[in-house]
Amino acid sequence: MSASPSRQSPAIGPSETLDPQNWDEVRAQGHRMLDDMIDYIAGIRDQPVWRPIPDEVRARFRAELPLAPSDLGEIYREYSDFIAPYATGNVHPGFMGWVHGGGNVVGALAEMLAGGLNANLGGRDHVPIEVERQITEWTRTMLGFPPGASGIFVTGTSMANLMAVWVARTATLGEAARQHGVGGEGGLLTAYTSTAAHGCISKAMDLAGFGSDALRSMPVDRSHRVDVAAMRAQIKRDREVGLRPFLVVGSAGTVDIGAIDDIEALAALCREEKLWFHVDGAYGALGVLAPALAPRLAGLQDADSIALDFHKWGQVPYDAGFLLVRDGERHRAAFAAPAVYLRRETRGLASGSPWPCDLGPDLSRGFRALKTWFTLKTYGTEKLGAVIARCCALARYLEARVVAEPRLELLAPAGLNIVCFRYRAGEADAVNGEIVISLQESGIAAPSTTVLDGRLAIRAAIVNHRTDVGDIDRLVAAVLEFGARRTQASPDQLKAIEPSSLAM
Ligand SMILES: Cc1ncc(COP(=O)(O)O)c(C=O)c1O
Repeated sequence: MSASPSRQSPAIGPSETLDPQNWDEVRAQGHRMLDDMIDYIAGIRDQPVWRPIPDEVRARFRAELPLAPSDLGEIYREYSDFIAPYATGNVHPGFMGWVHGGGNVVGALAEMLAGGLNANLGGRDHVPIEVERQITEWTRTMLGFPPGASGIFVTGTSMANLMAVWVARTATLGEAARQHGVGGEGGLLTAYTSTAAHGCISKAMDLAGFGSDALRSMPVDRSHRVDVAAMRAQIKRDREVGLRPFLVVGSAGTVDIGAIDDIEALAALCREEKLWFHVDGAYGALGVLAPALAPRLAGLQDADSIALDFHKWGQVPYDAGFLLVRDGERHRAAFAAPAVYLRRETRGLASGSPWPCDLGPDLSRGFRALKTWFTLKTYGTEKLGAVIARCCALARYLEARVVAEPRLELLAPAGLNIVCFRYRAGEADAVNGEIVISLQESGIAAPSTTVLDGRLAIRAAIVNHRTDVGDIDRLVAAVLEFGARRTQASPDQLKAIEPSSLAM
């Protein structure tokens, strides 16, 4: 069995392996990298949340394709000096923009292990796929789906939502549509969501070939929950004119303010109308882990499919999106495609069918499940639920600080973990837009913006397990400081405002 290591044939030439000549050198370098990575995470609070990228740093990444080898130590120095300091910043507790998870050190270690294993989770019979199946089973249990449900890791909820549209399409039109296309009947299919739904739902309808006009965006109430009666009425009107309603997408945590639709009512509507019920639970679905939040997600167990991201409130390092489908057969019916070179066996490496490639568009797939498995096992779902509950408590704290501060205005109720507010000023949209940029450039905090009822809001989404009361206080203090500077300064003084002059 043992092969002679480096027998050379003149016709083939010397070995071109990428393995190092000296494993000890690589090991030492690897240990430095690992130590630095742990130090980076451990010391993140002492760093700015984000730094603007200097031109000369950006220019370094316009270099020529490297033809010749370089020293790993040198390359790592380049990473340390010019990549790591200019990352998004979402590891930092002051990052509150968009909906970004903070990651965790155990997940990062698992990602390194996954890199070494280099497993391809498209298919075949190996334990990494069993790990992914284990996560499917755990997610199924968390969300109350029946046995027979299926699940798959994907990049993120945008992809999971698109895949749900594909599954709903095949479930509605039958598998023949995969061969013949959606045809004239497909042109009649209409889907329903709310005006507060994430833009990726409309994009999914576009990418699935129905066109975004086939998505009806129904009005929401003051708390941004979809008007179910209006949806029912629209479905009726659409049927009357010969359209074919097929899909409802509910939101468990809207992107703007964290509203949770009445999932039970939407599930009941879909049952009555025989529509596919998908829930975009990008970050909110994992709220089921927090006992105080779980009742607000009642009805999730009745959905046909749920999209969620472990990389948001699950704190798993990017990326770790997931799609769970109640009826595994229907899931497979939307994606499984026979190919001679992917022939299944009952024994050997090609056994273990169905494979993950039968559940989505990807064939080659990485081992996203490993970092999720490590994270869930290391911390346990109770701890992760406590993190989620604390994020919501911090949002309520920020909301209270905004309400108590006459210079600030709350723009929407903070029902979950997102607070939308602004500094009171003339030309408030411009002023608050600049405040957010200044906050980001100062490195103190990184909220983002959104527009509510035509008014620009400072939007703080508390997703990171590291965020604490002090981070909220720093955000409020800096908003007030930048707001005062912006509204009191003359245009010349404004130019001179150096965001970094504010203490971190
Ligand atoms: C409600 C909602 N849906 C979908 C998405 C898209 O998820 P992803 O960025 O993982 O594709 C997000 C992202 O923040 C979201 O908040």
